[in-house]
Amino acid sequence: MARVAIVGVGAIGGVIAALLDGTGRHEITLCTRRPLEELTVKTAKGEVHVTAQNLTDPAQARPVDWVIVATKTYDAAGAAQWLRGLTAEGAPVAVAQNGVEHRQRFAPWVQQQSLVPLVVQISVERQADGSMWQRGGARLIVEEGSLGHDFAALFRGSECEVVMTEDFKTAMWRKLCENSTGTLSVLTMKPFGVYRDEAITHVALDMARECVAVGRAEGAQLDDSVAEHVVEEFQEAMEDRINSMLADRLAGRPMEIDARNGVIVRLGEKHGIATPLNRMAVALLGTVR
Ligand SMILES: NC(=O)c1ccc[n+]([C@@H]2O[C@H](COP(=O)([O-])OP(=O)(O)OC[C@H]3O[C@@H](n4cnc5c(N)ncnc54)[C@H](OP(=O)(O)O)[C@@H]3O)[C@@H](O)[C@H]2O)c1
Repeated sequence: MARVAIVGVGAIGGVIAALLDGTGRHEITLCTRRPLEELTVKTAKGEVHVTAQNLTDPAQARPVDWVIVATKTYDAAGAAQWLRGLTAEGAPVAVAQNGVEHRQRFAPWVQQQSLVPLVVQISVERQADGSMWQRGGARLIVEEGSLGHDFAALFRGSECEVVMTEDFKTAMWRKLCENSTGTLSVLTMKPFGVYRDEAITHVALDMARECVAVGRAEGAQLDDSVAEHVVEEFQEAMEDRINSMLADRLAGRPMEIDARNGVIVRLGEKHGIATPLNRMAVALLGTVR
């Protein structure tokens, strides 16, 4: 049994809570900004109703064994307010967010040896009724090491596959190739079906190639086929699937444009690599208020 707190119970936090609750082994605390009336996750196998303690005030946070942060990247500072109470006994903090800068983002609040960055491979959308709709399976990638093994042990017996890798950098950048290219869907305000358009396919390939080039310069092992694979995956995805940044735009929330595309522009500049498509995406979405 472990005491696990989840900070940010939206699409990903909701699914992670359901997966952990399903093991029947953990005491789960859901840390939210507003009271959570109920938490329902809909999957192909049916509905999961999560029962857990819900806190809405960081001052109420008590020490747990593990913290999993699942807010958007732009809400890191707010999420960090929970950490003082939750980690008072030294709990590690797993960060379930996109991007390649988990460590830098949480450096002001979490010691590096206690931080566990995750690559999240779960497709889930928040529904109008407050439930989460999980499309497909759940997979988390974590860096090989003792904390990684402890993290994976939390999910033993759940429907979540936790994969350990020696080359976490490559896993993060591979995911960033998807996320940065996914911004075309945000710009067009159309779900994944838009990637079946021939003109979009060409732009998507070039956009993914910019990410591959910068990722390689940063030390990720990305071969030339990555861009094609990313675009093929998008074309094979369900036509009406919505990525989490499009969900933000449609809901009028801030967007993870810096974590998904801005980082490619910034690191591209550092390495002298031109990233015009990612730069354009950052500029255009920067005008959306
Ligand atoms: N959705 C996906 O399919 C998917 C897949 C892979 C990776 N990701 C990544 O996973 C991360 C989470 O995405 P998501 O889609 O789960 O986002 P989301 O649905 O917007 O959920 C984020 C949650 O964090 C909450 N939150 C924000 N600040 C908080 C605070 N100070 N205290 C407590 N809760 C707070 C939000 O509360 P409110 O409800 O009050 O706004 C929201 O419920 C992102 O980095 C995303 O890119 C998402």
